[in-house]
Amino acid sequence: MLRLKNLTKVYQTDGEPFLAVDDLSLDVDQGEFVVLIGASGCGKTTTLKMINHLIEPTSGEIWINDVPTKDTNVVQLRREIGYVIQDVGLFPHMTIAANIEIVPKLKNMDKHKRRERTRELLELVNLDPAIYEDRYPAELSGGQQQRVGVLRALAGDPDLILMDEPFGALDPITRDQLQDEMKDLQQSLAKTIVFVTHDIDEAIKLADTIVLMKDGVIVQAASPQEMLKNPANDYVREFLGEERLVPNADVTPVSDIMLTEPLTISQEAEAAEVVSKMQKRGSDYAVIVDSSRRFGGIVTAHDIQRKGVKGKALPQVSDRRAQAVVDTTTIRDAASKLANGTRLLCVVDRKQRPIGLVSRTALLRGIVDLWDGSKNNDNPVNETWS
Ligand SMILES: Nc1ncnc2c1ncn2[C@@H]1O[C@H](COP(=O)(O)OP(=O)(O)OP(=O)(O)O)[C@@H](O)[C@H]1O
Ligand SMILES: [Mg+2]
Repeated sequence: MLRLKNLTKVYQTDGEPFLAVDDLSLDVDQGEFVVLIGASGCGKTTTLKMINHLIEPTSGEIWINDVPTKDTNVVQLRREIGYVIQDVGLFPHMTIAANIEIVPKLKNMDKHKRRERTRELLELVNLDPAIYEDRYPAELSGGQQQRVGVLRALAGDPDLILMDEPFGALDPITRDQLQDEMKDLQQSLAKTIVFVTHDIDEAIKLADTIVLMKDGVIVQAASPQEMLKNPANDYVREFLGEERLVPNADVTPVSDIMLTEPLTISQEAEAAEVVSKMQKRGSDYAVIVDSSRRFGGIVTAHDIQRKGVKGKALPQVSDRRAQAVVDTTTIRDAASKLANGTRLLCVVDRKQRPIGLVSRTALLRGIVDLWDGSKNNDNPVNETWS
């Protein structure tokens, strides 16, 4: 969707050239959330501003949807790219609605349609249009202004949005809330986002891909999981911080700690067969699967004992407090399901086929093993469960 090819920016200060961005190349997919991060002065803002030509590259090219941006009229280009900056930059003498409607108006969108869209957008970030649309920016809190700044970038319905430390000036709670809203918005609207931050936790939370820069070059570009698991070098390791390098429940998938190869049983199986299979495997659980081997519930030895299976179809005796989760579910999300009444989680692949099981005990053991494995490399994670 977005392709940066050998982008270079040389600033001239007092006749001295300064290489701010050095031969940077990056591919961003449609719908991807990319976070540029790095120490102050490493070239994040320069890179971002080259994308919408607020700064002209010294050399290199930017391609958007297979068209080089140098062939696009720059005014047109900026209408097609949303841009959000740290101090929001709302126009103080324009109402909230008017601020949001700048690009739609430039695009000659019908007045009523425009307002309708503005109201939808305000509701999307929990700002009641009846209260806020006619207010002026000064009558909003910092967090509310930030929300409007994001909406203004969304209003023209751009595929690509650039955000330069948009939440930098906010208190941690508002910031956290806006991050959640941002991630939801991006997922529901399928926007491509290039987001700049100093804050590694913000990057881990939001990014599909983190691009860590140093002195104008990319040190590592990877998913948060990959970067935490395999930092490219000491600089990355130091930047991430040792405390984040131990397995992190917010990014580690539950598939890393699940009990693998769960006993599966056809939903048409006879009760006696289920019991004997469980005994043979020494397993307290069996996962019921349909004819396509898709998840259909879990039966436990306890349930069978209590309810009896004679004359009943297996799905009838399955544990109602069992659920399926996909293998990319984080340990944190799995833990929260198990804390909220779910007794057993069956981990399934994309085709809904069972590949593992997690109970509360298994979750705890898995986390302990992960920690052990990460702290002592001679003792790798024990993945067999007995
Ligand atoms: N107009 C300019 N003229 C000369 N040098 C500049 C100019 N703008 C930026 N620089 C220099 O280029 C380098 C990269 O700046 P840039 O603003 O891209 O950094 P950044 O990564 O966004 O930093 P920060 O995290 O502090 O915002 C810095 O060393 C900066 O001093
Ligand atoms: Mg900057």
